[in-house]
Amino acid sequence: DVKSMAEHFEDYFPIGAAVEPFQVEGEPGAVLEHHYNSVVAENAMKPVSLQPEEGEWDWEGADQIVEFARANDMELRFHTLLWHNQVPDWFFLDEDGNPMVDEEDEEKREANKELLLERLDTHIKTVVERYKDDVDAWDVVNEVIDDGEPNERGLRESVWYQITGDEYIRTAFHAAREYAGEDALLFINDYNTEIEPKRTHLYNLVVELIEDGVPIDGVGHQSHIQLGWPTLEESRESFEMFADLGLENQVTELDVSIYGWPPSGEFKSEEEIPAEILEVQADRYEELFELYRDESLNITHVTFWGIGDNHTWLDDRAQEHSDDGEGKDAPFVFDTTYHVKPAYYAVMGFERPD
Ligand code: G3I
Repeated sequence: DVKSMAEHFEDYFPIGAAVEPFQVEGEPGAVLEHHYNSVVAENAMKPVSLQPEEGEWDWEGADQIVEFARANDMELRFHTLLWHNQVPDWFFLDEDGNPMVDEEDEEKREANKELLLERLDTHIKTVVERYKDDVDAWDVVNEVIDDGEPNERGLRESVWYQITGDEYIRTAFHAAREYAGEDALLFINDYNTEIEPKRTHLYNLVVELIEDGVPIDGVGHQSHIQLGWPTLEESRESFEMFADLGLENQVTELDVSIYGWPPSGEFKSEEEIPAEILEVQADRYEELFELYRDESLNITHVTFWGIGDNHTWLDDRAQEHSDDGEGKDAPFVFDTTYHVKPAYYAVMGFERPD
């Protein structure tokens, strides 16, 4: 009897959730069916999951999610055709089975580059041909911009970059277009897209690629955010920059951590989290969803990076950074037992109960 988020936002954008295969049944499955009309795989469609060894494919988890989306008439976002993380090591082995490195030898350099781009093309072709009729939007490349100590163009110096320069990005988009077709929606996805200088680096790259005829339809803003960071103004400006280029903006991995950076992990269980913090979190969700509804920002999709507070990557992050290895985060609008939090009322624009 709790009003569906998907229905509530019907006139604006689909509401999605990231899921593991085990979440498309039972209680989380029921919550998904009621409140969401889009899904994305949290891990099951990453290269390491789909092609753990060269030419050996494992479709099981990914297929389960696709079948769930089909059966419930939900949209499907694909995450992700390429990343520097969760990509199996074999991708980066040279012809002799040694790890590819930034070679001095010109011939060796070219051979490695060719081999790597060929593997990328094969991966994309195989995956896209299998799922193209089911997928509504593709994260073609993920996190190619660096926010540590970026080089002049801000490009992440991953192995992809060391071996191919920016060609891997171009190859990925061209391959996705070739195999998925003209109507496929192709996204460049990243985190901290609100923050300078990262957002300008991303913007400049996108402009350059579009000028060169690389097919990009939109920018995925992961939106792993905190109670007071980034500012709403920074978020707005980032959406505006890309909307002004005529691109779609999608919010692809939304969660609002209750911690700052680094996360203290000071609350060890859901019960320990003060009610006031959940109210501040609700305020944050309220302003964000107001922003998302601003049509001039061309936000065409909002996906949360999970369903309820019982399953979130932010717990691992809090535990990693806390003093004692323990820590609980609570980033979503549903709690650990899928009951609504103040954030749910805020997202829906309802009056919050006392
Ligand atoms: O599958 C193995 C399992 O066999 C093993 O027993 C277990 C032991 O740790 O690990 C399992 O793999 C974990 C995997 O999630 C599946 O649960 C990895 O350790 C863990 O590192 C991995 O974390 C994922 C992370 O990406 C990897 O960097 C998170 O679930 C996932 O939420 C997160 O998602 C990313 C997006 O793809 C990109 N944007 C940032 C976002 C958050 O980091």
